[in-house]
Amino acid sequence: MVNKIIVAIDGYSSCGKSTIAKALAKYAGYTYVDTGAMYRAIGLYTLRQGLTNEADIIAALPHIQVGFILVDGAQHVTLNGEDVEAFIRTLEVGNCASRISQIKEVRAFLVAQQQAMGIAKGIVMDGRDIGTVVFPKAELKLFLTASPEVRAQRRFDELVNKGEKPNFDEVLADVNDRDYRDTHRAESPLRQAEDAIVVDNSNLTPDEQMEVIYGLFNSKL
Ligand code: DC
Repeated sequence: MVNKIIVAIDGYSSCGKSTIAKALAKYAGYTYVDTGAMYRAIGLYTLRQGLTNEADIIAALPHIQVGFILVDGAQHVTLNGEDVEAFIRTLEVGNCASRISQIKEVRAFLVAQQQAMGIAKGIVMDGRDIGTVVFPKAELKLFLTASPEVRAQRRFDELVNKGEKPNFDEVLADVNDRDYRDTHRAESPLRQAEDAIVVDNSNLTPDEQMEVIYGLFNSKL
């Protein structure tokens, strides 16, 4: 019997991390965990409650439960038992998630839950600090990247598909702002783990990219 491993996938926003992580989890028969959705759920909570200052957000943490449920085979994030998947993928919640993710106590709260999810291995987890902080000993670490323009176009298309009417320049500015915040925050900034393998998918088709990733996964078993 082949041992199960932990796959840590980090990278910039909108570079296809979750698509890749989901596809790899399916291929491997592993559990997929979208940690960005966990930060987004907390962001949604603070927006709904009108919490803006750090002390109030930290004080609210004991009242926040983030979880996952399967709905028709798709993973949905829950906030205090409510399926909030439909509310967390907006620009507003994304920006709020990016802000609350800079708070040390928020990170510690979620990292502990993420580490518990990996105890039995057999997990593909994506985020910003998975290979560096959550699972520094993960057997396979991938660091995904693509140019800001390619990522802005993907996010633009995603928003259009959801019925929103985005402005491309605003989406690009948002991608650049978020990159800056994700890489410059004091707490667990996005950075490549020393032993991570970089995959730049600006010029790869989805199929080409998955071939590369399945190959890397199989080489670790
Ligand atoms: O991957 P995403 O766009 O859904 O993530 C939303 C925000 O959460 C992003 O701005 C950075 C933050 N995040 C984080 O700080 N650490 C993670 N492991 C995952 C997401």
